[in-house]
Amino acid sequence: MSDETGPARPDASGTAATAAETAPPETASTKTAPATGAGLTRRALLVGVGAAGGAGAMFAAMGALGLAPESQDRDFTPPRHSDFSLTGRGAAKVVVLGAGVAGLTCAYELGKAGYDCTVLEASGRVGGRNLTLRAGDRLDELGGETQTAAFEEGIYFNAGAARIAAWMVTMDYCRELGVPVEIFVNNNASAYVYTQDMSAPLRARAARADLYGYVAELLAKASNTGALDRRLTADDRERLAEFLRRFGDLGPDLAYRRDSRRRGFETYPGVGEGVSVGTASSLRDVLAANTGRYVTMDFGYDQVMPMFQPVGGMDTITDALADAVGRDRIRTGTPVTGVRNLPDGVEVTHRGGTGEGVVRADYCVATLPPHLFARLPHNLGTPVTAALRTPVPVSAGKIGLEYGRRWWEIDDRIYGGASETDLDITHIWYPSHGFHSRGGLVVGYYNVEENAEAYTGLSHRERRNRALTQGKKIHGEKYRAELRSSVSIAWRRQPYIEGGWASWPSFDAAFDLLQRPAGRVYFAGDWLTHLTAWQAGAMESARRAVTDLHRRVLQATS
Ligand code: PHE
Repeated sequence: MSDETGPARPDASGTAATAAETAPPETASTKTAPATGAGLTRRALLVGVGAAGGAGAMFAAMGALGLAPESQDRDFTPPRHSDFSLTGRGAAKVVVLGAGVAGLTCAYELGKAGYDCTVLEASGRVGGRNLTLRAGDRLDELGGETQTAAFEEGIYFNAGAARIAAWMVTMDYCRELGVPVEIFVNNNASAYVYTQDMSAPLRARAARADLYGYVAELLAKASNTGALDRRLTADDRERLAEFLRRFGDLGPDLAYRRDSRRRGFETYPGVGEGVSVGTASSLRDVLAANTGRYVTMDFGYDQVMPMFQPVGGMDTITDALADAVGRDRIRTGTPVTGVRNLPDGVEVTHRGGTGEGVVRADYCVATLPPHLFARLPHNLGTPVTAALRTPVPVSAGKIGLEYGRRWWEIDDRIYGGASETDLDITHIWYPSHGFHSRGGLVVGYYNVEENAEAYTGLSHRERRNRALTQGKKIHGEKYRAELRSSVSIAWRRQPYIEGGWASWPSFDAAFDLLQRPAGRVYFAGDWLTHLTAWQAGAMESARRAVTDLHRRVLQATS
């Protein structure tokens, strides 16, 4: 594993945990709460701020002081209509490039204040990498074939974004937009762990019990024989031993109970005492199985339970955003061909509709993937182009496998969660919804980088066959035999997206440069945050762009 500072990879949450531990807390915080010093009442402060900065600044200050009514819980004050209507100023015209999560969030927040937004979207649909496929949906690939989802009614496949951590701003938007959410099971003891160093898959509960058990045993014994006396007092040692006995299920001799009930049962206890799955392998064999990476997947601050998903499909979020923006403001099938700063505005040229067109506006927010913007003709300067070229597009892929029978629930007692493996499929995800319904959809791979690239160049049929061959090693023949239909996505081959996400080799001056507008062009996207590959990143970045733009407009017209 590399020490990359970019986003953690889905198959390397160890990296995520490390990044989380080393990241300075709340670096991106926009907390601006002024200290109310002695003799200055909050009211007086607000009146002063209002006189100097107008209603927008006053509302911002009120928000910072926790006085403004806000539907969103977080440290952000969206621009308000009153910023203009109370002051006689007019809102500006903004052209937003891209109707993904960042673009829609920008247009939504600007729309609250009455900004006149037009969203230009290159593809035929809104949502970007928030993509849910259902029966009849078509999926086109660059230089590839077109697939059509042949799922049964009610089955869906979140081909892009699929999980939300509780702390993410995505949850606030779900609340505000009335998008119902349900639990996304990101950790399931009944799912499997399988590495090529193992003779057969093991339930995650057994793989965890063995690793935790032996680690606890080693530490308890080392501590008991005095090896840690330089670090531990007698009291420390006692407390540590008390914890390790629980953590590892150790016996009185401080050895891992190799027949620990935590490993699970072939037949679970009932009237009878149950039949255990058997005893753990030796420490050496457990280490040789190399399961460590796969039993710590959910340890990171962004992967830990509970996680969430919108009921009915992830695109419920982007659909709600698009409705709130106003569908008439969003022009799909309109790829941008050039962006120019003018002395008093911006000019965006595009294809689509009736052919070449031009949109002029006061400001632009560009949310295209950086590697695609870098290819556009523009007059924003070479440092901007160089900066846009710095984040590296990362391959990511998924396959949705539809089954007519929920065998993972019926045969395996797996309700949501994922099996983890070092095979090139990396994960098998089981649905977190529709339990006990008739059919369902399993994600047969969700892989990145080399593993994703191995599938990207294949036809859908080849991807499916390869995924089935791999998955069979965990689930047996039914995995192939019972398949109903399938759809696969290779994000590098998605038109106008061309990547799962884009990752900064380091958060350097190029990252800082693009946080600021280039003339009248602002940038936004998950790639401009420390939440790369999360919708929350796109939303946080959109809010930053909107805040900066709005502040500037209020200043310019004061
Ligand atoms: N958000 C994506 C996921 O949850 C990609 C990602 C994985 C980003 C792990 C950061 C950490 O799978």
